Amino acid sequence: MPVVLSLINLKGGVAKTTTAVQLADTLAFVRGKKVLVLDLDPQTNATLALIGEERWAQADAQGQTLAHLFLDLLGGTRQFDPAAAILPGVSNLGGLVEAGTGSGGRVDLLPSSIRLIDVQDRMGDIAARTHYAVNPMEVVRQHLSPLFAGYDYVLIDCPPNLGFVTQNGLEVSDHYLIPTIPDRLSTYGIAQIAGRIAALRQARGLRLTCLGVVVTKYQSSSAQHQRGLARLPGELEAAFGAAGQAPPPVFKTILPQTNAAAEAMAYERPVTSYPHKYGRTPVGGQPAYRYGLHLAEEIETQLSQTLPARRGGQFSTWLRRMEPGEPA
Ligand SMILES: Nc1ncnc2c1ncn2[C@@H]1O[C@H](COP(=O)(O)OP(=O)(O)OP(=O)(O)O)[C@@H](O)[C@H]1O
Ligand SMILES: [Mg+2]
Repeated sequence: MPVVLSLINLKGGVAKTTTAVQLADTLAFVRGKKVLVLDLDPQTNATLALIGEERWAQADAQGQTLAHLFLDLLGGTRQFDPAAAILPGVSNLGGLVEAGTGSGGRVDLLPSSIRLIDVQDRMGDIAARTHYAVNPMEVVRQHLSPLFAGYDYVLIDCPPNLGFVTQNGLEVSDHYLIPTIPDRLSTYGIAQIAGRIAALRQARGLRLTCLGVVVTKYQSSSAQHQRGLARLPGELEAAFGAAGQAPPPVFKTILPQTNAAAEAMAYERPVTSYPHKYGRTPVGGQPAYRYGLHLAEEIETQLSQTLPARRGGQFSTWLRRMEPGEPA
């Protein structure tokens, strides 16, 4: 069975999507995993980063986005076909696998659409429209989770809200990850998430837990970020304690602010390898791309401790292949 992981923070712009896409690329093309990305955000940023505008427009025109799943239920139509909607072998790194830079893994995508905005406000109607055959909280569970079986990971990119669509993602998640910039406004969102998800767990009988907090867009020269980082464990203790839970760990890997991380989301930009996509320029004493590798390794290690059967493994082999100077 796959690990289903939602990336969530109620604050916008904290690198949820960038982290989700890099994690998908790393798990697939460095660590050899089969990854499905579910884009639940009407902004469609993960979708555009993984397939570009042209392929997205095709999927949208053909009624094969996540929005159409909900729109079918609301309108009594039958356009959406989950098996056809999953786009196999996405990411601009995917095409490089045959050229020898990949690891045998793969990223597939269930794309999003701006039309999800229309859905959000009408989700409450789904129960009545389907004569109470479908609970609006269980659309993803009922219609999509049977397709998760062939994957090692399902990564869910959530919008910065806890609306019905996001809750559908949390319903099927084993864990959630909270990306945050270490500044006041970004970390305010954490207390809200901790409380709301704890309430949702109880109300819906869910088991999902917070796997950890990922610090993103870190600027080591910023006194504000340094203070924010130092404050984070205490803030987590207060936020999760108030929700009756132990605080989640903060991942040791801190994702630095880099041009490469931002540029990597441009699907159309030609890339030749994972290190090329995520940047070889040194930051904090190592090439930028290595932060993504370390984060994926930490996440897999953490998961292997929760689920002993899942062991990461080939990290050092792949890391050796990716060092600057190696053919990529
Ligand atoms: N490590 C980084 N270094 C520099 N820029 C970054 C980094 N990570 C993300 N960004 C940039 O920050 C902006 C926000 O990132 P992203 O879209 O991933 O955030 P988000 O949390 O998904 O936002 P939203 O809440 O709107 O979905 C984007 O312009 C992205 O390119
Ligand atoms: Mg996003």
